[in-house]
Amino acid sequence: MTTTTAPTAPTASNASVETDDSRTYAAARDRSAVLDALIDGHAAEDPARFRMLTGDRPTGPLHIGHYLASLRNRVRLQDKGVETFVVIADYQVITDRDSVGEMGDNVQGLVLDYLAAGLDPARTTIFTHSAVPALNQLMLPFLSLVTDSELRRNPTVKDELALSAGRPLSGLLLTYPVHQAADILFCHSRIVPVGRDQLPHLEQTRAIARRFNSRYAAGHSVFPEPEALLSDVPLLLGTDGTKMSKSKGNVINLRDTADQTADRIRVARTDSERRITYDPNGRPAVANLLTIAGLFLDESPESVAERVGDGGARVLKEVVTESVNDSLAGHRARRADLARDPAYLTSVLHEGNARANEVAERTLATVRAVMGMSY
Ligand code: TRP
Repeated sequence: MTTTTAPTAPTASNASVETDDSRTYAAARDRSAVLDALIDGHAAEDPARFRMLTGDRPTGPLHIGHYLASLRNRVRLQDKGVETFVVIADYQVITDRDSVGEMGDNVQGLVLDYLAAGLDPARTTIFTHSAVPALNQLMLPFLSLVTDSELRRNPTVKDELALSAGRPLSGLLLTYPVHQAADILFCHSRIVPVGRDQLPHLEQTRAIARRFNSRYAAGHSVFPEPEALLSDVPLLLGTDGTKMSKSKGNVINLRDTADQTADRIRVARTDSERRITYDPNGRPAVANLLTIAGLFLDESPESVAERVGDGGARVLKEVVTESVNDSLAGHRARRADLARDPAYLTSVLHEGNARANEVAERTLATVRAVMGMSY
């Protein structure tokens, strides 16, 4: 018997996933601007249309970069009426390291910062991967929809592998973008606020949704394709002008005290030029400090620079320290209060996990039904 296989033209559902380049990034920025306008106009009347999911890996304390680029924005969206889900991605911690580390403390730290920043557990579902079995089970049908070469091409996975100091590529690191698709799709979220590094995962998720619908659901939209909502906050550097990293000691954490913050900024890198100007290419460390102050003060970095003028590095550091400490004073006080009530934090997670389980079980039941697997 001979079979002839017709060459299949690439269609939306089997075309391979685009990788991030500046063109996809620019397009995602344009779409994000439109999406923001739509949310402003319609979130209150139609919250499910803008259901949003995002999350963090519980690998350590959140810093001011997280606060400025994502935490503040989550709260803003929640307050506009968007239905909000936040995953504490505990299974993603073990993609690129040998031990789980201080998982319990890290998870509790995230919950503290979420609540202190204004996420309201009555409106926002905060949950952990490991407590939602039906979410994890979605990974199995989803894995059938991706190829190994597609996963190996994922630029974020490649970068993470390169940063993991010669470790072999684990099966979980290779496939975690598919697990992340399960995070996003289990609750049918439409909007995923992320940074640029996460765009490849969003494209992979969209491909999984399309392929699921076309291969297993006869074209019905079981999973709508979610959209990235990119932050317009520029990438912030550490206080030494290089990439923020716990091990370099160049990070200002949300939980730090005002004095720790002042100490960290006192030793921040600047340069010997007296007059402070905003010049991101020529004076990156100074520009980064101006950007941080500007974001906290809701002012452009240029205008902060003008205010400091001939005051030099000393005045610049005073302005930055004050902007961070004044803006975070309320957050830090609420965080300290909440930390005195661990039973409450546990109850927030229990309720969030229960809600996420309900949603995930419903979705999994649908998936099994459309795949003819309800026995
Ligand atoms: N991978 C994300 C990060 O490292 C965290 C994350 C897990 C996430 N699941 C998600 C982000 C789903 C958005 C949507 O920051």
